[in-house]
Amino acid sequence: MDQRLIVALDYPSAPPALALADQLKGLCRWFKVGLELYLVAGNAIVHELRSRGFSVFLDLKLHDIPNTVAGAVRSVAALGAELLTVHAAGGPAMLEAAVEAADCVPNPPQLLAVTVLTSMDQLQLAAIGIDHSPENQVLRLADTASAAGITGFVASAEEVAALRQRYPAFTLVIPGIRPAGAQVSDQKRIATPAAALSAGASFLVIGRPITQASDPAAATQAILDEMQRVPALTA
Ligand code: C5P
Repeated sequence: MDQRLIVALDYPSAPPALALADQLKGLCRWFKVGLELYLVAGNAIVHELRSRGFSVFLDLKLHDIPNTVAGAVRSVAALGAELLTVHAAGGPAMLEAAVEAADCVPNPPQLLAVTVLTSMDQLQLAAIGIDHSPENQVLRLADTASAAGITGFVASAEEVAALRQRYPAFTLVIPGIRPAGAQVSDQKRIATPAAALSAGASFLVIGRPITQASDPAAATQAILDEMQRVPALTA
């Protein structure tokens, strides 16, 4: 089993999500619960996955005023998820409040700061008033998050090498992964599994190339075979 693969359980209800997790048991340890599934299945889905022995990445992408984000972190910090996301764009005070809230529970999740979504390119950034490149924006947000005490980032494969150079020991979680020939869908800044790992990713997040495959276990195995060719980071 390659511990660097996180499968995104982007499903509209718990049964298909749990069915996929069960189908991939032995191939994959990590599953990501994002907004689509969490908003319908709630904390129970995190408990279900944990009771089956899986590790959970709770991708809630929290982004609100500091007091509200701190409260949200406290609400989910004791669930047993090992990773939890907040948006770096929430700013230093929000990030510090999130770190402080997580520190208040035993065994809190590691907080990851989402930098620039992998579905955003230069044009999408310009439309929300950001006139520099995605890479500059990612590095700027990463610096803000690390100053607030965050030790991991979510970014695209295009920035992972620059992030790894600047943050050798951080957790770098990379979505927007597409095996050669897979459908790109709404993602813009994408890479293959091997390219993202070679550039310094700690974890790859993969959704539709597995969840929409006619044979998800075979699709997972093919991705794992490609990942195996890139040795794990030693940092
Ligand atoms: O289906 P696909 O492989 O594109 O899924 C990628 C997953 O990673 C989705 O659940 C999406 O919400 C998440 N994600 C992302 N870009 C980020 C952070 C999370 O695509 N920056």
